[in-house]
Amino acid sequence: MNKTFSIAIDGPAGAGKSSVAKALAAQLGAMYLDTGAMYRAFGLAMLRAGVDIHDHDAVAAHADSVVIDVDYVDGGQRICLAGKDVTDAIRTPQVSEAASAISAVAEVRRRMVALQQQIARGHNVIMDGRDIGTAVLPDATLKVYLTASALERARRRCLELEQKGTPQPLEQVLAEIEARDYRDTHREASPLVVAPGAVTVDTSDMDMEQSVAALMALAADAGIHR
Ligand code: DC
Repeated sequence: MNKTFSIAIDGPAGAGKSSVAKALAAQLGAMYLDTGAMYRAFGLAMLRAGVDIHDHDAVAAHADSVVIDVDYVDGGQRICLAGKDVTDAIRTPQVSEAASAISAVAEVRRRMVALQQQIARGHNVIMDGRDIGTAVLPDATLKVYLTASALERARRRCLELEQKGTPQPLEQVLAEIEARDYRDTHREASPLVVAPGAVTVDTSDMDMEQSVAALMALAADAGIHR
């Protein structure tokens, strides 16, 4: 019988979690789940429905009715809201804000965690997010807290935005990252913390290749192989 493995990668916005997790999933032949995309889809649903994203009760009232599906097309994750693909629509600053706000609502988290556990069941899986090692996969084979300085994360985000043709000033991106860090670490429901048993990897001075190599080495140490 093949024993399944799971890798939990948590950390602040812009630490490179999704790029590292995707590369790791490809090398280890595992499923990758970007849980942030699910909170983003929920946030987008609230914006579209005209719900005040800072009104906890109003957001909580929708926790069980928003229909979110995750599909895999050509090895890439697609996220659907009420059957419509919103993979690209969730990558805007407004949706980042909305996702951060609605992710503080316990009822939304309960629903998302249940969905994520259901998607992962029976698979070798690598998930990234904020509460994977603490709530979604508390028994993960390997837990990593991937981080980098706020300035370095802002620089990386600026580069991405520039490449997308939507450049923004570094000071603004840094301020947004710091505000989101604060909210994600200070909320009452599953705040971002270093999960018990997690290994912290600071990628401030690492490029993508070095970050992936560092995590592949940790995976091998944990007995995880393709
Ligand atoms: O990783 P991301 O930037 O796409 O996540 C968007 C927001 O969703 C982020 O501000 C925090 C929230 N989130 C969360 O609370 N728990 C997760 N497992 C993933 C994301």
